[in-house]
Amino acid sequence: MKITNAEFTISAVSSKQYPNDLLPEIALAGRSNVGKSSFINKLIQRKSLARTSSKPGKTQTLNYYKINNQFYFVDVPGYGYAQVSKKEREKWGQMMEEYFQTRDTLRAVILITDIRHEPTRDDVQMYDYLKYFSLDVIVIATKADKIPKGKKEQYVKRTRKILQMEQTDTIIAFSAQTGEGKDAAWGAIRHYLS
Ligand code: GTP
Ligand code: MG
Repeated sequence: MKITNAEFTISAVSSKQYPNDLLPEIALAGRSNVGKSSFINKLIQRKSLARTSSKPGKTQTLNYYKINNQFYFVDVPGYGYAQVSKKEREKWGQMMEEYFQTRDTLRAVILITDIRHEPTRDDVQMYDYLKYFSLDVIVIATKADKIPKGKKEQYVKRTRKILQMEQTDTIIAFSAQTGEGKDAAWGAIRHYLS
C-alpha cells in the first residue's frame, strides 16, 4: 500500500470521542510492550507517528491514526502488565468492552504476539474475547528478527495452535526491525477495507 497521508487524529477514552466520519477501522491488540505501535509505524513508514517505548504501558488510550483518508489504525493499550492497579485494569476493561462491543466501523483486529514465546494466557483470553464479539482477527507474530529463520514455521504453528485459531483467521510472521511480513500484513488488511 502506498502511504500518501498518515496523521494522528484523536486519543479517545470513550465512544463520545470516536471519530464520526464512518471510515473503516483496524484495531491493534496485544500485550504491553509486544510491539503494537512499532507495527503501525513500520506499515506506514513513519519512524514514530505512533509513540513507542521500551517501557511497557506507553499507550493508555485508544489512539486513532487516519491513513490515506481511507481508514483508521486504532492503537489500543496493551494488557498483561503487572504494575497496573486494579482500578486501572477495570478502566481498561470498560474502555475495551465499549469499543469492541459497539464499534460498527471496526472491520478486523490485529492481535500482536511475540513469535519467540508461547502465547500467554492473556493472549489466549484476548483472542477468545475478540471471537466472542464475532470479530475477524489477524495474528501478527512479531519480533521475527529475534529467532533463527529455520524455526519460524514451527513457532507460527505453535502460536496458531495455542490460540486455537479459527482456520479463516490469518497469522503472519513479522518484524518491525527488518520489515519482514509487511506486504503480507498489508494484503490481509486490504481485504477488510473494500
Ligand atoms: P505499549 O504501548 O506499552 O502497550 O507497547 P507496544 O505494544 O506499542 O510496543 P512498542 O511498539 O512500543 O514496542 C516495545 C519495544 O519492542 C520497543 O523497544 C520496540 O523497539 C521493540 N520492538 C517492537 N517490534 C519489534 C520487532 O519486530 N523486533 C525487535 N527486535 N524489537 C521490536
Ligand atoms: Mg503502544
